[in-house]
Amino acid sequence: MLVSGNEILQKANKEYYGVGAFNFVNYEMLSSIFEAANEANAPIIVQASEGAIKYLGIELAVGMVKILSSKYPHIPVALHLDHGTSFESCKNALEAGFTSVMIDASHHQFDKNLEITSKVVQMAHKYGVSVEAELGRLMGIEDNINVSEKDAVLINPKEAEVFVKESKVDFLAPAIGTSHGAFKFKGEPKLDFERLEEVKKLTNIPLVLHGASSIPEYIKESFLSTGGDLKGSKGVPFEFLQEAVRGGINKINTDTDLRIAFIAEVRKVANNDNTQFDLRKFFTPGKDAVKKLVVERIKILGSDNKI
Ligand code: G3H
Ligand code: 13P
Ligand code: ZN
Repeated sequence: MLVSGNEILQKANKEYYGVGAFNFVNYEMLSSIFEAANEANAPIIVQASEGAIKYLGIELAVGMVKILSSKYPHIPVALHLDHGTSFESCKNALEAGFTSVMIDASHHQFDKNLEITSKVVQMAHKYGVSVEAELGRLMGIEDNINVSEKDAVLINPKEAEVFVKESKVDFLAPAIGTSHGAFKFKGEPKLDFERLEEVKKLTNIPLVLHGASSIPEYIKESFLSTGGDLKGSKGVPFEFLQEAVRGGINKINTDTDLRIAFIAEVRKVANNDNTQFDLRKFFTPGKDAVKKLVVERIKILGSDNKI
């Protein structure tokens, strides 16, 4: 059943588990995510970026989610706008039927971010739709980073407290050392868990981890074995995801892992049979790999059997 993001994440916040928020750009990715949620008996968030919406068309993005959620009526699912860049973009998503939106004004100064986020919250709450915002810059932190450099990029917990109180935002994405894509850390993976706990203590709302892909070894291997190159890639280890959930993260964003898993299978088919041109022969193994990965992540986050 299509529900608001709040319905899914308030429960997760109370019961201390993490819900997977998975990006989709087509039917294959989306249906694999639904199949995984069904297998794991888990609530799920499916999210589309502005780029995904442009690629699919907003009606199709919403329509596919509605059809799949009526196929699996027992699964609570929220359709979320990922990294909305403007009030208008959030408005379009609300009018089209999204049940959660992110306004990402994190590149602005604190006051401007607060002003834009508050406007979106006022509008979205009229629709009964939840809003996510972001504070700090998403980037990896090095071992030798000093305190003032860290403070310049990561979330400031005191600011987070004021931001949440004044904007009335439902969920907050704190920058604690992750970044998007396959190359998150130069040295050993490192996240600022102390800062995360401080933010949770001062805000007590569901928190969101962006850039949470793990680039698990088996997917990397699968991609490399087809001649693909992922040199230097490094993701967020599974234990870090679990520690983040213990520290107050309830929504865990994953896109890159799904893309690599899917494309590795497509590359395998292409390499193994250069006469093949039946799309289904490429996409079926891709879908299976995505489904397996999503089930695995749901279990790591602890949202299996939470329906
Ligand atoms: O956070 C970014 C997501 O991975 C979406 O990426 O803008 O390429 O669709 P995209
Ligand atoms: P990854 O690139 O780590 O998958 O992060 C995705 C994300 O944060 C989407 O908002
Ligand atoms: Zn993100």
